[in-house]
Amino acid sequence: MTEIRPVQTDADYEAWREVRIAAMPYERCPSVAELREMERPERLLLLAEVGGKVVGHGLSDRSTEPGRAVLTARVRPEARRQGVGTTLLQAAAEHSVAQGYERTGCSVDDEGSLKFAARFGFTEVARQVEQIRAIGAEPQPPAPTAYRIVSVAERPELWTRAYDEVALPTFPDMDLKPPLQVTPEEWATEWINDPAAMFVALDGDAVIGVAGLMIDTDQPQRAEVAYTGVRRDWRGKGIASTLKRTSMAWAAEHGITEIYTWTQEGNANMRKLNEYLGFRYGLVSVSVRAKLPLQLAE
Ligand SMILES: CC(C)(COP(=O)(O)OP(=O)(O)OC[C@H]1O[C@@H](n2cnc3c(N)ncnc32)[C@H](O)[C@@H]1OP(=O)(O)O)[C@@H](O)C(=O)NCCC(=O)NCCS
Repeated sequence: MTEIRPVQTDADYEAWREVRIAAMPYERCPSVAELREMERPERLLLLAEVGGKVVGHGLSDRSTEPGRAVLTARVRPEARRQGVGTTLLQAAAEHSVAQGYERTGCSVDDEGSLKFAARFGFTEVARQVEQIRAIGAEPQPPAPTAYRIVSVAERPELWTRAYDEVALPTFPDMDLKPPLQVTPEEWATEWINDPAAMFVALDGDAVIGVAGLMIDTDQPQRAEVAYTGVRRDWRGKGIASTLKRTSMAWAAEHGITEIYTWTQEGNANMRKLNEYLGFRYGLVSVSVRAKLPLQLAE
């Protein structure tokens, strides 16, 4: 018998994280503090217990697309095919419906999970590809002359400015329809977790590019590539690769042996830049969408 309950305490958050790490060992999981920062009234995190042991978790929240909810059900590999995922997804979906959502989406990284999602009417809309780069001896790139590079740790106030000057004007260039919607608060909390690992390019005092790393306290030898963006009027001058090389040199100096990133399959510019920097391809993640309430196929 599966018991579903909401996450409340720090121990619950830790249990939620353990499921996420067991189901997705290849991706950084936010810390308890980061998860706490994401709390808001409409966001619901669930735990599934069987025999008093947490075996799965769920999530219902708003997505980065207005009017669409995000839903997640994840089950520890050893507890699958016993109906836990179905109970979790239905409980999370009920919450999304109660919030007034009529559409939802999630990401699925393996064939079995795709079959599970298809039973609830989820259909594919896009793919993201994982790109991975081993970090070895990474030299600092030659100092640019037409612009400067500084870390956000050196100039913390630049992160807010980067939102208006780089993030907002460049989000529409990602292969996402409709374009990503990120609030200034999300940019400040969820898009950076170590200012020393985040770099901005400056023309005088104008921010013209950003790139960096999200560090992983669970797996300190691995870091996720953070948002990379260069203002349109500054493209074609090697700014993104210089910023990324700067972050790779930082990674090498801080004991990181591998960095990874997820890029939309249709974002050829970013995939090519990563290929040029020596990234190889890894997993494929499928973005799926469904109407709410979910209809379970018999
Ligand atoms: C997808 C996931 C949540 C399923 O959890 P689960 O507890 O094993 O799912 P259920 O037992 O409720 O599965 C119900 C049905 O879905 C289908 N299904 C589930 N997993 C499947 C698989 N690996 N291959 C084929 N069909 C599968 C089956 O029809 C299954 O019924 P059956 O076992 O009687 O054949 C789990 O595999 C997981 O955590 N995956 C990683 C996270 C993820 O991608 N979640 C996607 C949804 S947001």
